[in-house]
Amino acid sequence: MIVSTAALSRPAYSRFAIGAYNINNLEQILGLFKGSLDAEAPFILQISKGARSYADKRMLEAMIRTAEDIYPDAVFAVHLDHGDENTCYDCIESGFYSSVMIDASHEPFEENVAATRRVVEKAHPKGISVEAELGRRGGVEEHVTVDEGSAFLTNPDQAVEFVKETGCDSLACAIGTSHGAYKFKGRQRLHFEIIEAIKNKIPGTPIVMHGSSSVPEDEVRRINAAGGELDPSARGVEEDDYLAAAKLGVTKINIDTDGRLVWTRVHREYFRDHPKEFDLRPPGKIFVAEYAKFVAHKSEKLGSAGALPEIRRALTIAA
Ligand code: G3H
Ligand code: 13P
Ligand code: ZN
Repeated sequence: MIVSTAALSRPAYSRFAIGAYNINNLEQILGLFKGSLDAEAPFILQISKGARSYADKRMLEAMIRTAEDIYPDAVFAVHLDHGDENTCYDCIESGFYSSVMIDASHEPFEENVAATRRVVEKAHPKGISVEAELGRRGGVEEHVTVDEGSAFLTNPDQAVEFVKETGCDSLACAIGTSHGAYKFKGRQRLHFEIIEAIKNKIPGTPIVMHGSSSVPEDEVRRINAAGGELDPSARGVEEDDYLAAAKLGVTKINIDTDGRLVWTRVHREYFRDHPKEFDLRPPGKIFVAEYAKFVAHKSEKLGSAGALPEIRRALTIAA
């Protein structure tokens, strides 16, 4: 069942986080639904602009609606990840999305506010919630002093003003993470003190953590042992930090890279071990099972495993 993003973030706030997984193809969709149900976890299925053009937005919608039929017990929201204004409007008009992200964080503050407010004005009358972003992700480089580096992170006072002026429903904050497999070098780290300060300034507003993949060492090692050339120093967010961040108001945790690593490991190992094979289905089947296992594991770490009965009860009461 597709539900509003608020129906998931409201009960989660300050208690656990909802995994938001980037989806591009059929195998990821099957694995995501299966793994979430195995863990009894609600989830957010998120679609980037790149995914909408890779798989065609109509194909993605049709596959997701079909997965909803195949797995009627799944409870999830559909979200546009890193949208520009026009893509947000397209998703709002489509009637398919629970929420959209307007990412104007690269713009000066006033322009970010103005674009976010325009999207909010179009989304809210349709019951669609809006995630916006403030701050610059992954900005704290090794050579930068702590004080200089903090300038890139979300300023908690500015967050108050931003949420008040835009009316956005959740805030993606720059808290030291970045997208991809190489998140932290030197003194770079997840800034719990910023998360806490933001929570104290805007209590009740869900915080979103982008760049949350953990980049497991073993996954990188297996990919490289099967012919990959990833930098073995690749490092991500400690999985044990997910729940600690959730208790400080991080309600949505975005995970894409780790799923890509599962895909790469499965396919590299499969074709290394079966050099004569050219049927796409055997590795595809392994990937679906491994991705399901991965999602169930992440749900445990996020604290969302086992939350489905509670979410269902809340939805029934609200209906
Ligand atoms: O935030 C970026 C996500 O990992 C999506 O990546 O734009 O390549 O689909 P993508
Ligand atoms: P990762 O690259 O850490 O998986 O982050 C994904 C993300 O933030 C999608 O918006
Ligand atoms: Zn992101």
